[in-house]
Amino acid sequence: MINRTLEIMLNRHSVRKYADQPISSDDKHRLFNCAMRAPTAGNLMLYSMIEVSDQKLKDRLAVTCDNQPFIAKAPLVVLFLADYQRMFDYYLAFEADKWAEKNGMKFRSPEEGDLLLAVNDALIAAQSMVTAAESIGIGSCYIGDIMENFEEHRDMFNLPRYVFPITLLCFGHILHSEKPRRQIPRLDEKFVHFENTYKSFDDADLVHLMDKTEEWQYQGRPHVYEEGNIGCNLYKRKYAADYSIEMNRSVRAALENWKKDKNLQ
Ligand SMILES: Cc1cc2nc3c(=O)[nH]c(=O)nc-3n(C[C@H](O)[C@H](O)[C@H](O)COP(=O)(O)O)c2cc1C
Repeated sequence: MINRTLEIMLNRHSVRKYADQPISSDDKHRLFNCAMRAPTAGNLMLYSMIEVSDQKLKDRLAVTCDNQPFIAKAPLVVLFLADYQRMFDYYLAFEADKWAEKNGMKFRSPEEGDLLLAVNDALIAAQSMVTAAESIGIGSCYIGDIMENFEEHRDMFNLPRYVFPITLLCFGHILHSEKPRRQIPRLDEKFVHFENTYKSFDDADLVHLMDKTEEWQYQGRPHVYEEGNIGCNLYKRKYAADYSIEMNRSVRAALENWKKDKNLQ
C-alpha cells in the first residue's frame, strides 16, 4: 500500500536549484512548526534553529561551507544547532548548582554524551522540516560543510560555548521546468539492514558496495578512474579531500571549546 506520505519520502531528492520565488511566511511557519513537533529527547528541545535571512551572511556561508554558491541563492537557509547552552543556563537560573552542592552531588557542565543527544535532536528536527517542505513543493539540501570553519561560524552567529552548528538546510520552491530527475541509488539493502546483530563484510563483498552508484554515475559506459578504481576515487574525493580534513580540524576545535571549562566538571 502506498500513501501520500510514503510517496513523498520515497520520491525526495536533494534540490540545489530553486525557483525564483520567496517562501511565504505561512509556509515558513508550517515548516518551523513541523520541525518543533519532531520527537525530542526528554522533551527538552536540545536544539535551536537560526533562519539566515541576511544576504551578507548567506553570501559568506556560500564561501565558508566549501564554496557552494547555491547557498547564497536559496530563498530559505536554516542553521540547525545542537544546543545544550539553553538547558544548562536554565539549570543555573534555578540554582541547580547550589542544589547539587547541598545534596553532595557534583554539578557538571555538558559533556560529550549531552552533545550527541543534542545532535540527535537537531537532526531529527531538520529532517522533519525536509519532509514537511517536500509535501508542499519545497525542495531542500543539507550542507554538512557547516561543520567546517567552526571559529568563523561561531563568530558569525554569536554561538555560545555549548552550541554546535551541526547542519545547514537550504530550501526553495522546486522548479517545475526541470525534468524529473533520476533518483540517486542507495547501497544494496543487504549492506545496511541487519537483523539482531551487526554484520561485517569481507573484501569480496565490499568491492561491490558501490556497484549501483557506479552504474548510475556512468550509465553503463565504461569508466576508467584516474586513481585506478572507484574505492580510491571515493577515498580521494570524499575522505582525503581538503574539506574533510578541515571538517575534522574544526570539529576537534569545537569539542575542545565545549570541554574546556573544567571548573564545573
Ligand atoms: C549530512 C549531510 C550533508 C550533506 N552535505 C551536502 C553539501 O554540503 N552539499 C551538497 O550539495 N549536498 C549535501 N548533502 C546532500 C547529499 O549529497 C545527498 O543527500 C546525497 O547525494 C543523496 O542524494 P539525494 O538526497 O538526492 O538522494 C548532504 C546530505 C547530508 C545528509
